[in-house]
Amino acid sequence: MSENARISEAMTIKLEDMFDDLPEMPQFADGIRRAPARHFALNPKDTRLALKNAMRYIPEKWHQQLAAEFLEELLARGRIYGYRFRPAGHIKGRPIDAYRGGCLEGRAFQVMIDNNLDFDVALYPYELVTYGETGQVCQNWMQYRLIKKYLEALTPDQTLVMESGHPLGLFASSPQAPRVIITNGLMVGCFDDPQNWNRAAALGVSNYGQMTAGGWMYIGPQGIVHGTYSTILNAGRAKLGIPADQDLAGRLFVTSGLGGMSGAQGKAIEIANGVGIIAEVDHSRIETRLAQGWISQEIDNPAEAFKVAKEHQRKKKSIAIAYYGNVVDLLEYAVNNNIQIDLLSDQTSCHAVYEGGYCPQGISFEERTELLRSGHAGFKEMIDASLRRHYELIAALAERGTYFFDYGNNFLKAVFDAGVSDICKNGKDPIDGFIFQSYVEDIMGPILFDYGYGPFRWVCLSGKEEDLQKTDRAAMECIDPKRRFQDRDNYVWIRDAGKNKLVVGTQARILYQDAMGRMNIALKFNEMVRNAEIGPVMLGRDHHDTGGTDSPFRETANIKDGSNITADMAIQCYAGNAARGMNLVALHNGGGVGIGNAINGGFGLVLDGSERIDTVIRRAIPWDVMGGVARRAWARNENSIDTSIQYNEMRKGTDHITIPYIADDKMVTDLVTKAFAQLKK
Ligand SMILES: NC(=O)c1ccc[n+]([C@@H]2O[C@H](COP(=O)([O-])OP(=O)(O)OC[C@H]3O[C@@H](n4cnc5c(N)ncnc54)[C@H](O)[C@@H]3O)[C@@H](O)[C@H]2O)c1
Repeated sequence: MSENARISEAMTIKLEDMFDDLPEMPQFADGIRRAPARHFALNPKDTRLALKNAMRYIPEKWHQQLAAEFLEELLARGRIYGYRFRPAGHIKGRPIDAYRGGCLEGRAFQVMIDNNLDFDVALYPYELVTYGETGQVCQNWMQYRLIKKYLEALTPDQTLVMESGHPLGLFASSPQAPRVIITNGLMVGCFDDPQNWNRAAALGVSNYGQMTAGGWMYIGPQGIVHGTYSTILNAGRAKLGIPADQDLAGRLFVTSGLGGMSGAQGKAIEIANGVGIIAEVDHSRIETRLAQGWISQEIDNPAEAFKVAKEHQRKKKSIAIAYYGNVVDLLEYAVNNNIQIDLLSDQTSCHAVYEGGYCPQGISFEERTELLRSGHAGFKEMIDASLRRHYELIAALAERGTYFFDYGNNFLKAVFDAGVSDICKNGKDPIDGFIFQSYVEDIMGPILFDYGYGPFRWVCLSGKEEDLQKTDRAAMECIDPKRRFQDRDNYVWIRDAGKNKLVVGTQARILYQDAMGRMNIALKFNEMVRNAEIGPVMLGRDHHDTGGTDSPFRETANIKDGSNITADMAIQCYAGNAARGMNLVALHNGGGVGIGNAINGGFGLVLDGSERIDTVIRRAIPWDVMGGVARRAWARNENSIDTSIQYNEMRKGTDHITIPYIADDKMVTDLVTKAFAQLKK
């Protein structure tokens, strides 16, 4: 028997068993956005390696034909996607009963994966990219097929191991253990940079999972609308002096990006009752958001855009305007014409700035796509020049009173990398942060994450709208709107969520909640499942949360004890969730800020109505949140210290957080000044 025949015989889950014959190449439908070709930079030796790597999924009888096909894909697109194995037609997260499987969780994960690749949800569904320019569910369609089969085979006594999109295999565990453990894009320290990662991705050995793409927990742009709404609303309160019980009526927010997450900005500004202009260079994305009703009007001339905005500001009427063009051109106009902008941000994909995430001023979106494909030598310099100009314009507007914040897209770091060291607080490197604050540093961190408020989410796996309505009502009843202004905002959000028509893809909902809020809502939902009022529910959250992510330019930007450059918290959160019985745990490199800049993790928990799951909820959900609050408290963040003091009282006998003593600043400064004076002598 040949070696490959022996290998085939040793496996029961394999590609060839899914097809009688080599499947036909499926059609590519017009109008579906395609990922830009990733620049092909492998040498001949690595190209051979990439091909041999991809062939590991393929039985020998198809090697000859597919090796040539994969090589073509690699040369043309910079990656091997294995398009031939893509299911024909529109992928959709269907009701859970439509999936086969040996356990509920295995079927639930299939709903989530397919929702991540839904043509209405995913950014580049043919290339398995869910959002954020590069965030993929897995690397190729062979993996997709195998994952689905593994999830069908999965039993309550096994765990599926997922390494960067590759299903390594099923291993015996127990019902109390996670059913799937996912890691994406993790690199060994000395190779943890975009260059080495790009090579690994082209070789087919690493996947960029972003946060919820590779963690199978993306729920469409709604997932980010609530966070965006809270951010801009609280930016207005904190920086424009708007009282806590009022909204953004009459205020102008200018930003860019109508993509996967950035597409939420239009909807969020309308819910916050303000006026928004959002620049976008890719016309297809404007069309998508217009069709969804998430923006109201498209304008391709800055003068007209600001004119319409002004009229709405005067009437205190909300509107979201898409400006079709480059954000830098829009800001040039604002600076040259003395336009008053209240709030300013940017959501181009600067975490992948040279890989297509940022379109430089002076060229069209189509031209940038061509430059990306050809690997044009001047492309990087164009991007750097555009980022430098972008920064100058922001600085000019900030001088005139505009509040600019970085939206966690690595923008400030990208400007620094483009050669602007003035953007750093210390004028030389980012170790002390930047002169502009990131939205977490200034707004979400102290106002939300430090208390434990974060992006709790759920999916009604039955696919029924009425289940979502029931869960919305039940969640609302768990919130006391009089406790804090954050609770009032969350209450209003969930009260109006149905009316705001936020669902794209599966019947899903996002709701910012703190530790106890999340636990109580989860228990309530599980009880509803038990009483057959609703079908099973998948719980999860964005990785972009209190405790799930270590990211010094974003989630942990308001950690000031020096530990912002460490990643213990995210890893503890992930391991702790696995230990406490979450069904899915995920840990990724990069997230929204790019390889090497963050470690982030998330979870999934299928509510099946059982008492066992009640126990998991009681143990795991408070941990998932309070691990982050405890670390923030240890960094001396005031709101986290208060929250931890209350938690220690409330959970006496079960949990206990170490809370820091606060040293007197003057005493420490005097002592150190004296010591340094001595040292100089
Ligand atoms: N919304 C959030 O709360 C949030 C949170 C964290 C991070 N982010 C970050 O925001 C970024 C955007 O995420 P996404 O999922 O929307 O990515 P995306 O790539 O889908 O969308 C970005 C959009 O910006 C457009 N664009 C690029 N350059 C432009 C330019 N110069 N002028 C105008 N438009 C331009 C692109 O055409 C694209 O549609 C990512 O870096 C992500 O990590 C967002």
